[in-house]
Amino acid sequence: GLGLMGHGIAQISAAAGFRTVGVDLNADVLANGQHAIETSVAKLNARKASKQEGFDDKAATEETLARLTYASSVDAVAQCDLIVEAIVEDAAVKEKFYADLGARAKPEAIFASNTSSLAVAPMALASKRPDRFVGLHYFNPVQLMKLCEVVATPKADDHVLELVDGWATLTGKVTVRCKDTPGFVVNRLLVPNLAAAIAMAERGDAAIQDIDAAMCLGAGHPMGPLQLADYVGLDTCLSILAGWCDQYPTEPAFFVPPSLMAK
Ligand code: CAA
Repeated sequence: GLGLMGHGIAQISAAAGFRTVGVDLNADVLANGQHAIETSVAKLNARKASKQEGFDDKAATEETLARLTYASSVDAVAQCDLIVEAIVEDAAVKEKFYADLGARAKPEAIFASNTSSLAVAPMALASKRPDRFVGLHYFNPVQLMKLCEVVATPKADDHVLELVDGWATLTGKVTVRCKDTPGFVVNRLLVPNLAAAIAMAERGDAAIQDIDAAMCLGAGHPMGPLQLADYVGLDTCLSILAGWCDQYPTEPAFFVPPSLMAK
């Protein structure tokens, strides 16, 4: 997928020197993803040039973009060593996708899902290569956020985890390891916080702008929780929280604020 997350992942891969194929079945999303990459690479290199004398940003941009190719068929990844999936957050769609991908990719290829809230193990099982399957969770905007969570299911091979962790590090990220638990580290702590902020606004405890200002200035967050909920996407927040409420009805931290449900 070459949407919000996928285009960023493809971009940092190419910028780090890896030949990269960006795939999306939807022609519009593919074209928008390619455009977003081209704009972002040029912008980041121009910024680097303004700070680093002698850095040729035009040449650097050309080099990065030359490592990227684009395709609208999954067959284009047949020869890839690492396949990072960032498609819709729907367990049934992802499992079907992996069952198909397992049959098309070369046997030694490693699969990594950028899922933000789904269990990794069922996808790993569907791919029929659970030892060569990890979670690789990035943050929006991928180009600027420094973290990548590397998620290990019980069946993941240690050497595969090392390889993927090493790759993510080469793409400029700091990695943390985590078990295959709901939301991994960041979303488990972050998304309930966003829900609590929405509920606070719904109750009228404080105005939206004041809640955001309070968390920026009083807790040192770069964005307030309500701005961040928009930035992540209210549809994504809803799908994460609704999925968790279904699966873990006794976990008090997981709830869907009514106004989010109305979306
Ligand atoms: N590519 C290139 N440049 C980009 C960019 C991109 N994709 N996105 C933004 N920029 C640029 C901006 O255009 C801006 O450029 P100028 O200085 O030329 O204007 C520059 O980066 C910095 O942007 P800001 O001025 O907005 O500066 P900032 O210091 O506020 O940084 C931020 C922006 C990094 C997004 C910061 O606000 C931040 O860290 N916000 C929190 C983001 C966050 O928490 N993300 C995680 C969400 S959770 C998630 O993603 C996981 C999930 O599964 C749901």
